[in-house]
Amino acid sequence: MTEPFDAVDVIRTKRDKGTLSDAQIDWVIDAYTRGVVADEQMSALAMAIFLNGMSRAEIARWTNAMINSGERMDFSALGKPTADKHSTGGVGDKITLPLAPLVAVFGVAVPQLSGRGLGHTGGTLDKLESIPGWRAALSNEEIMDQLREVGAVICAAGTGLAPADKKLYALRDTTSTVECVPLIASSIMSKKIAEGTDSLVLDVKVGSGAFMKTLDAARELAQTMVDLGADAGVRTVALLTDMSTPLGLTAGNALEVRESVEVLAGGGPADVVELTLALAREMLASAGQPDADVEAALADGRAMDAWKAMIRAQDGDPDAPLPVARHTETVSAPRSGVLTRLDAYDVGVAAWRLGAGRSRKEDPVQAVAGVEIHAKPGDAVTAGAPLLTLHTDTPERFARALEVLEGSFDIGESLGEATPVVLDRIENDVVPRGLRGGAG
Ligand code: URA
Repeated sequence: MTEPFDAVDVIRTKRDKGTLSDAQIDWVIDAYTRGVVADEQMSALAMAIFLNGMSRAEIARWTNAMINSGERMDFSALGKPTADKHSTGGVGDKITLPLAPLVAVFGVAVPQLSGRGLGHTGGTLDKLESIPGWRAALSNEEIMDQLREVGAVICAAGTGLAPADKKLYALRDTTSTVECVPLIASSIMSKKIAEGTDSLVLDVKVGSGAFMKTLDAARELAQTMVDLGADAGVRTVALLTDMSTPLGLTAGNALEVRESVEVLAGGGPADVVELTLALAREMLASAGQPDADVEAALADGRAMDAWKAMIRAQDGDPDAPLPVARHTETVSAPRSGVLTRLDAYDVGVAAWRLGAGRSRKEDPVQAVAGVEIHAKPGDAVTAGAPLLTLHTDTPERFARALEVLEGSFDIGESLGEATPVVLDRIENDVVPRGLRGGAG
């Protein structure tokens, strides 16, 4: 086949701060998926985009081209509204686990097609795989059946969904081109639009443990994704949430499942509960239930029942004991006072070095590895009392984890003003498919 463009010309256009044409974008994504554009050429283009950006129109076209690289799912046959949530990635972010069954309690289907962790941020599938027997890979038919019967599915996104993004994301990860608004926005939204959800709630993380370190950068990312949702007719709401400190009291796979189950049992750390409820309210409001009593569904066991059904449907045993690390090590408070900072990025890297995360996508992860947090910013601490407990099956990993934690916290006299969990909110005005009047 004769190719209509030359990759070198496309790269040069963006290198020289030009605008890519629709035809160039469609071709480069398709040719990269087919293997005609080489990894080194796509790396150069990704770096040119990283440095010179893309216009709103270029981002929209790029997103569409990635959607068109694979299949589109369609949940309209379910006969109930669908709502999904996506987080841009953080440390201790286990919210999907209690959130999906909680929303399903209200008759809204939650198709949560997820990924694995790479780098210091954890992956939802890695967390759930610490539950004995649980299976991440489902066929499209199994997904539909589970959505019909249980209402919530958390499973691996199949290879058919936005394959261009799969390839490109792996490349960006190894070429330092991840933290770029046009590339993150198109990556996330291409998968979510291809998945075919009626509405989408985005949890855009801000702070040291997130890709976006400042509120302004996170706002730009959120607005870009909300606009892409509007273009595709997907009701999209973004909450900007704090990721300067880890979410909850655990970072690591089995540790985070344990904490999620505590939330489903009506307990759990306040910040995890607050964010779970805030995101559930947004998802249900988008699905036409602005007054759903989500707190009651957590307190009275309905969300827990939905969780157990969801885990069992994927061959997991929700009542089996979770694996526990063979070795632990403690970091103690060097003096008494108030914890004024606990850095999300450092805790994430420590959990990763203990074995909770992977450096290359084919690496295995330890279910048991991670960091347990005994004090959060604002808490009083006493000299010698434990601040953090490190968990791993491979104790030779302690030294490097302890190294990164050395400068990870401050103890002072008082915290000053506490940072709220939800920092801002951005939405589009699309009416979700199921709520449109007439034939829409
Ligand atoms: N998550 C994604 O799916 N893609 C990105 O580019 C970043 C986070």
